Amino acid sequence: MTNDTIARAIATTGAQAGTVLVTGAGGFIGGHLAADLRRSGFTVRAVDRKPLEEWYQVSDGVESWQGDLSKEAECHKAVRGMSAVYNLAADMGGMGFIETHKADCMLSVLINTHMLQAAREAGVERYFFSSSACVYAADRQVSEDVVPLREEDAYPAMPEDGYGWEKLFSERMCRHFTEDYGMITRVARYHNVYGPNGTYEGGREKAPAAICRKVIEAKLSGDHSIEIWGDGHQTRSFMYIDDCVQGTRMLMDSKVEQPINIGSAELVSINGLVDIVEDIAGIRLQRHYKLDAPKGVRGRNSDNTMILAELGWEPSISLRAGLEKTYQWIHDSMVGQGARARVAA
Ligand code: NAD
Ligand code: GDD
Repeated sequence: MTNDTIARAIATTGAQAGTVLVTGAGGFIGGHLAADLRRSGFTVRAVDRKPLEEWYQVSDGVESWQGDLSKEAECHKAVRGMSAVYNLAADMGGMGFIETHKADCMLSVLINTHMLQAAREAGVERYFFSSSACVYAADRQVSEDVVPLREEDAYPAMPEDGYGWEKLFSERMCRHFTEDYGMITRVARYHNVYGPNGTYEGGREKAPAAICRKVIEAKLSGDHSIEIWGDGHQTRSFMYIDDCVQGTRMLMDSKVEQPINIGSAELVSINGLVDIVEDIAGIRLQRHYKLDAPKGVRGRNSDNTMILAELGWEPSISLRAGLEKTYQWIHDSMVGQGARARVAA
């Protein structure tokens, strides 16, 4: 889309410069992103299907609503007057959720289809889509001694069943909206993100939050044992939320047109993750390995060659530093001191 076309679209639709929509803002990443954009002076609208009292963060000065963005009409309402969209809404979770809710995960295609169409019709200037490392082909992730994943490794396609296929399809919709309609789209492939104000119980939690919770439960109960899914030798990289928000904003402002990794390159085994959380808690636990639990791929890491070349930046917050903050927030939430955050503008 040329600048003239964008200007015309904005003039006819009433989009205001500096007005941004964050979808899924009642969730983990969306909540942090909406707060950060607001702090930077943007006029932010935040939408999530959850009732406001269940949002992890509600920021003062942000127009926050409950809305189901799998419905086309809600998407049109949400994008009205917006110049940019960060689309983070999705029905998702850690391995315990995505292995057992493949249809629910794939139904996020309704959100991603209606949001793209609504954004196009409203003359939105820039559109961000949160994809996942789960798009990468399974046969590249069969060993814990991983070769880090490069962007080209998504094809030939053999992504995570359900969730990964939907993400790959929605990535391609962004690409074709750019090629056919001239819409400016940006696509991040996030690798496992963790931090405060995210899910740590209930079935959607990912390994960092789950392990923090389990260590805290063991400490509080006096039963000094822990259940770990798999044999503990599987490997991952985990990205702290502040890096995720910074990378997301840099990508949105960049000229990068292809999907790109936003992930930490600090590889750790699940046993190594438990070691760090035990150190933070000042405790050692008896480990029990549940081999028939959801395990996902055997090993996964982010190759950051492209992001370093394109943005001159990569996530750098150490796992130890990020886990200290995450552990503290989960601990405070579990012992009742952690109210849901209301973030001052
Ligand atoms: P989250 O579950 O905390 O947030 C997603 C939010 O989307 C939830 O609050 C949920 O209520 C909302 N939502 C779901 N369906 C909706 C609908 N129909 N209408 C409106 N809102 C709806 O997840 P997150 O960790 O913040 O992830 C944000 C995005 O990043 C998702 O698209 C996710 O797939 C992607 N992602 C996250 C990770 C990660 O490790 N957290 C990794 C890869 C990709
Ligand atoms: N969730 C969880 N809970 N995982 C555990 C646990 C536990 O108590 N104990 C060990 N694990 C192991 C899992 O078996 C898996 O092998 C590994 O920790 C990582 O699990 P998750 O954090 O749940 O997910 P993931 O890294 O396989 O995939 C996540 O990251 C993707 C992006 O990289 C998911 O959140 C995807 O939705 C996301 O797109």
